[in-house]
Amino acid sequence: MDVSQGRVRTVSIIGTGYLGTTHAACMAELGFEVVGLDSDPHKVAMLAAGRLPFVEPDLEPLLAEHVATGRLRFTTDPAEAAAADVHFLCVGTPQRSDGLGADLGAVRGSVAALAPHLSRPCLVVGKSTVPVGTAAELAETLREAAPAGPEVHLAWNPEFLREGHAVADTLRPDRLVFGLEGGPDAPGAARALTALREVYADALGAGVPEVLADLPTAELVKTAANSFLATKISFINAMAELCDAAGADVTVLAGALALDERIGGRFLAPGLGFGGGCLPKDIRAFVARAEEIGAGAALAFLREVDAVNLRCRTRAVDLVLDELARGSGRRVAVLGASFKPGSDDVRDSPGLDVAAALHRSGIDVRIHDPAAMPTARRVHPELTYADSVAAACADADVVLLTTEWPQFRDLDPGGLAAVVARPVVIDARHALPAGSWRAAGWRYLAPGRPEPVATPRAAAATTAA
Ligand code: UDX
Repeated sequence: MDVSQGRVRTVSIIGTGYLGTTHAACMAELGFEVVGLDSDPHKVAMLAAGRLPFVEPDLEPLLAEHVATGRLRFTTDPAEAAAADVHFLCVGTPQRSDGLGADLGAVRGSVAALAPHLSRPCLVVGKSTVPVGTAAELAETLREAAPAGPEVHLAWNPEFLREGHAVADTLRPDRLVFGLEGGPDAPGAARALTALREVYADALGAGVPEVLADLPTAELVKTAANSFLATKISFINAMAELCDAAGADVTVLAGALALDERIGGRFLAPGLGFGGGCLPKDIRAFVARAEEIGAGAALAFLREVDAVNLRCRTRAVDLVLDELARGSGRRVAVLGASFKPGSDDVRDSPGLDVAAALHRSGIDVRIHDPAAMPTARRVHPELTYADSVAAACADADVVLLTTEWPQFRDLDPGGLAAVVARPVVIDARHALPAGSWRAAGWRYLAPGRPEPVATPRAAAATTAA
């Protein structure tokens, strides 16, 4: 292929996890011939049958449609992916088991496996979230190990998709960042840019902004964006701690902050903090990498962001234990196992973490989640799962809401009060209408929100009664 001639026809997707599967289906939707490569034969077989191994709205129909037409196929053999014009690197970069840094085993391994098959000019595009400096290392590997050596280019194009919105975020991202080796003006950059612009012609034509950068800047955009979002969430959760100490209401505080256009209301929802497969491990890897390159002081605050986030979980556990201590029962219904609504992903899920901690404290925990029970069971088989909200809440002394699924927001507090042992709800996500729950006889508690204070007149009425 001569990418400068604008002839990208086939693309390969290396790593068919969350990011890769979405990218593969969307590339097929845009008209490219797509081959998805993964080392897991079970996953490949499922995807090749048009079935999704995880929950993501709108993705399975897209996958099934393009598998059926033959435009999208999956393989475990790197040789089958080798003929593609553009290779997207979408493998995971989980947290290392021995520290805060990212485990680059899959990234390095997949590039090492692909490189010997690259015998014609092509572009390799990194999308995985990696520590700054990784792209330069991979470019070197490709130059050394690919038979087409100097004709194999590397670009970095970070992915910002959110779970639950993955298809829409892929087809119409907020921005497209193109990191080019040596920067946009370097020799060779034009060829890579031509291919990238062709791949993303649809989004660019619709007005999605393009940001041109060098490789390290493009890598940093992703980790900086996730760190900023995490910081915003931890900021408001730190304010929730202050509100608890001061008797103030963090939901009113957040609402007032959100009205300042410079601050804005998105990612300012207080509660149980951030989880999932990205934000927690990305901020840790960012700190680790900053320390490695001698810039640790610049990111020291991210350790505090992480600490505030983890405290949200211990504070929720303490709130439940304090509440149980007021009575004699020890049964808790946990509503929500996924790290956020619209997903069955339980990686670093705050709610599941809290449920497991309560279980370890000897509490009888019953969990219900509309989508994530199978995934949660795999990670925490020791916990008890209930098939419905009512079954989870039967005879419960505390109902703890940990994921703001719409089905939970819309619960009928009157009906639920009839099945619990004590009508006590802890709304760790600030998702429930407190007034309706209180009106239905519930004791409603939430982190960062004071309990209603009896007015002098109401107090007098209570005393007289
Ligand atoms: C995140 C980034 O948003 C995305 O750009 C990146 O590509 C991957 O990581 P995702 O992990 O899908 O996406 O979840 P996101 O919607 O960002 O939520 C992360 C966590 O923060 C969730 O646990 C959510 O419940 C929590 N959250 C979010 C809050 O606690 N408060 C908020 O205001 C927003």
